[in-house]
Amino acid sequence: MSKRFYITTAIDYVNGQPHLGHAYEKIIADVIARSRRALGEEVFFLTGLDEHGQKVQQAAQADGKSAQAYCDELAVSWTALAAKLGLTNDDFVRTTSSRHKEVVQAILTKLHAEGHFYQAPRDGFYSTKEETFVTEKERLPDGTFPPHYGEVVKLSETNWYFKLGAHQQWLIDHIEANPSFIQPDYRRNEVLGFLKNNTLEDLCISRPAARLTWGIPIPFDTAYVTYVWFDALVNYISVPAAQGDPGVGLGSGVSGLGTSASDQSPQPPDARPHPPLSLWPADAHVIGKDIVKFHAVYWPIMLKAMTLPLPKQLLVHGWWQKDGAKMSKSTGNVVDPVAVIDDWGLDAFRFYVVRELDIGPDGNWTDAGFAARYQAELANGLGNLVNRSLSMLKRYRNGVVPARHDELAPDAAQAAADTISHLRASELQKALHSIWTLVTRANQYVDQTAPFKLAKDPAQAARLDEVLYNLVESCRVLAVLLHPFIPGTSAKIYAQLNLPGTPDKLALATWGGLPPGQVIGEPAALFPRRDTPKA
Ligand code: ME8
Ligand code: MG
Repeated sequence: MSKRFYITTAIDYVNGQPHLGHAYEKIIADVIARSRRALGEEVFFLTGLDEHGQKVQQAAQADGKSAQAYCDELAVSWTALAAKLGLTNDDFVRTTSSRHKEVVQAILTKLHAEGHFYQAPRDGFYSTKEETFVTEKERLPDGTFPPHYGEVVKLSETNWYFKLGAHQQWLIDHIEANPSFIQPDYRRNEVLGFLKNNTLEDLCISRPAARLTWGIPIPFDTAYVTYVWFDALVNYISVPAAQGDPGVGLGSGVSGLGTSASDQSPQPPDARPHPPLSLWPADAHVIGKDIVKFHAVYWPIMLKAMTLPLPKQLLVHGWWQKDGAKMSKSTGNVVDPVAVIDDWGLDAFRFYVVRELDIGPDGNWTDAGFAARYQAELANGLGNLVNRSLSMLKRYRNGVVPARHDELAPDAAQAAADTISHLRASELQKALHSIWTLVTRANQYVDQTAPFKLAKDPAQAARLDEVLYNLVESCRVLAVLLHPFIPGTSAKIYAQLNLPGTPDKLALATWGGLPPGQVIGEPAALFPRRDTPKA
């Protein structure tokens, strides 16, 4: 059983409707998952929902519903979004499922038996919005807490704590010895700075059931439910456990859980059971910048206590704003990914978010910026290249591919090599830059060789054959390279070339794949030009 490339996203709170930020993260992870499959690796891509906690309980109450009914209703929009985004996730976790809850409880039981927890009273401040205790140190000069915490309330409670302190130096050493563990580097440096300048406080892993009922009961003390972050992080191993992964052997409490169905409904009846999969450790956890501490501090220490290996990488993306301001439902300043996709198409959306924003910095959505890239890069760039190349082959050569010619082969080979090396490093925006060097080169080639002029001169027939081969073969190579990013468009290009199958393996990017004599299909616009809105 060979280990799969295992990639996860953050699991979203189900306290509202999905927005651009959630969609972006899932698309990045999907592009990486598709890239790895295209490189010939076996992949397991996990996403899902974080359904417990005070935030969700309060949202359900405000809606006049039971927490479970509220989650079930919203889960419909979120699973629909995954489909709408074209995600190729292999599973979908909901933290309210029994397969997940059993693993959380088994871990709690084990760590408790091994002495990792203690019970103690504490006065503290709690942010429901971020589901976290806030420390005095975080107060701003004016005495308030930073606004991203929302309302912060004082709590005096006795709770269960997880001892973190003993692991602090071990964690610093691990991060220093493994530069790729937290990426980009500036996020890694922030974590190191935090760890070197603060003494870790023990993590409160319980919430009194008297205050919060919507959580996983603590197996050794039923007066409490599990802290939502301790619950949520475990999803990354509870799904492997349910998939029979021997790499998360957690002892008697968990082994033998066997396989159980995905939490996404409806289920394909024949999808399970299947042979056990080897998944853990994860190759990449894709997360946003606001939840780095949970993944870079708490999660590694939880895993160490469980004597499990650490994930290979935390890939941390930035946050989107809209029109220079924070996205917020209360002000209506949100980008609804479903509306954009319905208007412009899935691939235009997938392309834009990856092309516009590198994994790391913050981004800003403007409708005008989106429309401008659509027009310049998709309609006039890629779309025009494919459409005119195929149309000229149709018009001048009845759609029959001429003999192979290699004038653009070096450009295509360079673009393919660069794209592949960027994809191996999860440098998605750079990969698109590399792909566009070939789009631009091929469009220039049309202008330089002027096939419409060659077509008028019978003495240039051989030259026209050469030019046409270089153009249509460049389009084919582009379809292969673009597959992880815009799979629908990539499949359309293959279909218009009348080639069988989908170009889902990067090995197909080798020049010369288009057989002479091949009769292509009907060209059709990939990205119709649209009137840009007045600025
Ligand atoms: O934090 N731009 O859930 P969540 C980019 N349940 N990304 C954004 C964003 C924006 N404007 N807004 C949110 C949670 N995100 C926990 C995670 S994981 C074990 C538990 C990202 O619904 C955010 O950074 O608040 C996070 O990675 C993801 O959306 C889910 O956020
Ligand atoms: Mg959040």
